[in-house]
Amino acid sequence: LTVQVNKPGAAVNKNMYGLFFEDINFAADGGLYPELVKNKSFEINPGLIGWKALGGGFNLDAYAVRNEQGISQNNTHYLRLTTRNGGTGEAGIENEGFRGMGVKAGEGYNLSFYARRGAGSIAGLTAVLVGEKGEVLAQAPIMLNGEGWQKYTSVLKPNATHNKAHLKLVVNGQGTVDLDVVSLFPQDTWNKRPNGLRTDLVQLLKDMKPGFLRFPGGCIVEGRTLSERYQWKETIGDVASRQPLINRWNMEFKHRSTPDYYQSFGLGFFEYFQLSEDIGAEPLPILNVGMACQFNSGELAPMGTASATKGGPNAPTANTGDPSLDIFIQDALDLVEFANGPASSPWGAKRVAMGHPAPFNLKMIGIGNEQWGPQYLERYEPFAKAVKAKYPTIQIVSSAGPSPDGELFDKASKRLGELKAEYVDEHYYALPQWFREHADRYDKYARTGPKIFAGEYAAQSVAIGSPENKNTWDCAISEAAFMTGLERNADVVGMASYAPLFANVDAWQWTPDMIWFDNLNSYGSPSYYVQKLYALNKGTKVLPVTMPDGAKNGTDNLFASAVADEPAGDVVVKLVNYSSSPRPVSINLAGAKGLAKTGRAQVMASADLQTQNSLAEPKKLAPQESTFAVKGSTLSYTLAPNSFTVLRVAGK
Ligand code: AHR
Repeated sequence: LTVQVNKPGAAVNKNMYGLFFEDINFAADGGLYPELVKNKSFEINPGLIGWKALGGGFNLDAYAVRNEQGISQNNTHYLRLTTRNGGTGEAGIENEGFRGMGVKAGEGYNLSFYARRGAGSIAGLTAVLVGEKGEVLAQAPIMLNGEGWQKYTSVLKPNATHNKAHLKLVVNGQGTVDLDVVSLFPQDTWNKRPNGLRTDLVQLLKDMKPGFLRFPGGCIVEGRTLSERYQWKETIGDVASRQPLINRWNMEFKHRSTPDYYQSFGLGFFEYFQLSEDIGAEPLPILNVGMACQFNSGELAPMGTASATKGGPNAPTANTGDPSLDIFIQDALDLVEFANGPASSPWGAKRVAMGHPAPFNLKMIGIGNEQWGPQYLERYEPFAKAVKAKYPTIQIVSSAGPSPDGELFDKASKRLGELKAEYVDEHYYALPQWFREHADRYDKYARTGPKIFAGEYAAQSVAIGSPENKNTWDCAISEAAFMTGLERNADVVGMASYAPLFANVDAWQWTPDMIWFDNLNSYGSPSYYVQKLYALNKGTKVLPVTMPDGAKNGTDNLFASAVADEPAGDVVVKLVNYSSSPRPVSINLAGAKGLAKTGRAQVMASADLQTQNSLAEPKKLAPQESTFAVKGSTLSYTLAPNSFTVLRVAGK
């Protein structure tokens, strides 16, 4: 095949390959956000989710969630324990964590809680970290000596590593004690921040050098009803004052009789912006456009002037009725101010107060997730107009529904084009074959309309929505084949992200997912390594490729694309051989001069298309490096059976 090095085409967006984060599959609480205590503030209804009384409550006279004289207006519920007079054995309460707590031997875990002593003679509590068999991993006695609500702290250092630990709070003495905001937080967080993120997971993200981070979803942006939508203003400020909200994905849980999936918002919008900065990605928040999930209630915010919004620490008004569209628009305008505004602005001041005086330099926002139909367009239009009027340089990502095919999509695209939308967000989940067959999808797109953000896509090994879907090599190699088409059409496709990003092996609703983890360990699926190879080798300009005998790209399951990496002076060729036979290729790097005599190959290959990675074999299928010879401006290379190969040749 021929790569026309002397005829560089469109520029590749420097943020082309990014990340889609949604709190699905325990991606936030129980995942990236490493708080170990579930329902730490007893604010989830019923308030004992995650908690149980020690010994079945035998030594407790009562344990109940109450709400008189709580620690603050936004954290009204707490737990009251009353121990039995003359009881023997342990009296107290135990937290199960998020399918257990992952703790590491010798590491420090910050324990904190609020307590208020009532009648009786309770002198203190003992915090005990226990393993599954009840073995003590760490313990700390804590004296309760103050009056009224007091904060108590200690550090637990487990003597062994354990994946499914629990935290017990054992009451010493007889009487009544109130407890709230019980937290056990690892000291080892990203950048050692007190409310920081899980290090192994952030590292996997950073290693991809992602161009952007889209957050917070996904369907959770919308909620099943409007009152359950994601409201960013409720997720900033003091962590203890952030009120939990039922997760849109709670109902998808088949594993548990009591649904227990809530968003604590410990990972809130400030933390998302900070994460974006930490991993070098442009933040891309997606905002509710005034519509609940159309797969659920499909509730619509009335058009027009604001009347009210949900009450909360940052809500501008009291809760007096249904929110109208203006509330949603105002949220977007305030978000830009929160991210970029000076300390003298009301929302900029909140960012500064949280410890980030410099702006986050927000450049893009998404209006609506996966919404469709005329209801979307009529809301999108005034929304986008208001954002552009106040912030003309902010780029807007618009939505195109769940499947970017068919009449509705075509109509929406046409209208979005007329409205001069900058990006249209397309989503596709389909069988691996679909991805291979549609690698030419964007070859046919108009070059003049809005750019495409392939905001969610993944090959599904069995069927869309099937719990049997696996992250097989068949899925990943098919995505790699499809992505040659994204790369080739860099003048149309400006951004792309695989979805969903994370899944907890013990608590998921959706498969496949890019990165899997348990309470201690994590691994990237083959799809993760495909994404990473593209991101690390995205180059700066598309180079035209002519396939052998002038055939169409993808003929005989051979897919190719190429880019110039101008700052490095390199030519990068990506090839997918979806065939059980090795395939020799001869590549003419037309017009290239002074190339190095040796190139570097990164290869993912497995004859078995069902190959997967796992916690036990995290890198069973990951890129392998080798070198190859370059003769003048040509090279011969044999592609392995079922392989994705990235060849990089340096100019001298
Ligand atoms: O990625 C999972 C879900 O798929 C997202 O929440 C939604 O946008 C899409 O339907």
